Amino acid sequence: MKTQSLIFISLVVIATVNACTDANASAGTGGTCFCNAGYYGTSTDVTSGGSCQKCPTGTTSAAATASGTTISSCSCIDTNAVLNSGNTACQCKANYYGTPTNSGASGCSACPTGSSSSAGSTAVSSCACNDTNAALNSGNNACQCKANFYGTPTSSGASGCSACPTGTASTAGSTAVTSCNCNDTNAVLNSGNTACQCKANFYGTPTNSGASGCTGCPTGTASTAGSTAVASCTCNDTNASLNSANTACQCKANFYGTPTNSGASGCTACPTGASSTAGSTASSACSCTDTNSAFNSGNTACQCKANFYGTPTTSGASGCTACPTGTTAAAGSTAMASCACPDANAALNTATPPVCACKANFYGTPTTSGASGCTACPSGQVAPAGSTTNVCKASSTSSSYILPIVSLLFSLVMLI
Ligand SMILES: *[C@@H]1O[C@H](CO)[C@@H](O)[C@H](O)[C@H]1NC(C)=O
Ligand SMILES: *[C@@H]1O[C@H](CO)[C@@H](O)[C@H](O)[C@H]1NC(C)=O
Ligand SMILES: *[C@@H]1O[C@H](CO)[C@@H](O)[C@H](O)[C@H]1NC(C)=O
Ligand SMILES: *[C@@H]1O[C@H](CO)[C@@H](O)[C@H](O)[C@H]1NC(C)=O
Ligand SMILES: *[C@@H]1O[C@H](CO)[C@@H](O)[C@H](O)[C@H]1NC(C)=O
Repeated sequence: MKTQSLIFISLVVIATVNACTDANASAGTGGTCFCNAGYYGTSTDVTSGGSCQKCPTGTTSAAATASGTTISSCSCIDTNAVLNSGNTACQCKANYYGTPTNSGASGCSACPTGSSSSAGSTAVSSCACNDTNAALNSGNNACQCKANFYGTPTSSGASGCSACPTGTASTAGSTAVTSCNCNDTNAVLNSGNTACQCKANFYGTPTNSGASGCTGCPTGTASTAGSTAVASCTCNDTNASLNSANTACQCKANFYGTPTNSGASGCTACPTGASSTAGSTASSACSCTDTNSAFNSGNTACQCKANFYGTPTTSGASGCTACPTGTTAAAGSTAMASCACPDANAALNTATPPVCACKANFYGTPTTSGASGCTACPSGQVAPAGSTTNVCKASSTSSSYILPIVSLLFSLVMLI
């Protein structure tokens, strides 16, 4: 029994080793011949006309454990490679590039992060960035936004690279909108980074055509970014403004002089009450606004002309009133009382309109020239202002106070 068993086992072992006629197959479970490692197919021993085929160069397979294995059992030795479509050779798999090796380190490198390639790619240039608005950088080691885009590329979904605002351009690899430069060299992005505007000290509308649409402000003026008209260029001298041709600064109306660019104004205000047209350079250009006024002797202010009184105005009706008919006043008079009658012994009364009448303690009719028509009351006598006839009488200073007292005393004496 023991001997019989040993002989049977020995026969099985011998059969296992020797049973396959397909040189590239070995007997497996139940004595069936399966293809050896490195081969695929169905052994001749299992199927008439079959044979175990050698795996393609660069690939290998494990010893088969079943019949009918296919070439897919042959895998590339390079772990980053796969068989090409014709199953004739290994090629780098999708998202890798290079030349597969049959030993050691892989000859296939992974595409840079964010990029992908189809199987069979041999150069890194075949790795395309997943973000359609991105491309590999010059070192071919990362994706970056293309020229005229900015941001951070994404690996999937919506692009992380935004187009630069209209009229601006950026170099590849720009990450911020501030890298988008206006085509117009005299323009900058507005605060919202949505469009180009002329930079500070320029005005106009930026162009995208090369020639600048932004013009420099006239000498001595400055503007804030975004100015569109020359009127936005303001003179450094706060008392000056652009001339009508917008070519230079000139002193504003009511000033005279030469504007400066240094801070302190070169334009001096006309004297009080005087005005000048814009662009005046000399003090002589200042004239009194009130037609009934003129400069005082020091040319420091306007005052009412001779025979007028009041305070000159700088607009509207004149502040200087003509003296009543027949009277005169020196220039600079401020009150009607300054209007003098030609008769030295006369003065204006309170009538409407006032007229010249003899002063108090005079009587008569004032003259307009020559000797006075007002005669003085005799010494010690008085007459009210405006007296036309001799109504002079003794001063009432005594009669008004002493006489009643004397009369009272006299009456008392009489009663006794
Ligand atoms: C076994 O493989 C070798 C090498 O590929 C080949 O030359 C030979 O023909 C194969 N044998 C059979 C029986 O197919
Ligand atoms: C990049 O694109 C490829 C091809 O469309 C895709 O297979 C891969 O998943 C993408 N990568 C990521 C990170 O989404
Ligand atoms: C501006 O645009 C013009 C016309 O498209 C182009 O020739 C020029 O190179 C651009 N300039 C800049 C600085 O982009
Ligand atoms: C005017 O010019 C002076 C000197 O150049 C400068 O310091 C100052 O800031 C300017 N003022 C204005 C309002 O531009
Ligand atoms: C402009 O004129 C006004 C009025 O004379 C004056 O107060 C002001 O200081 C002047 N401005 C400058 C910058 O000197």
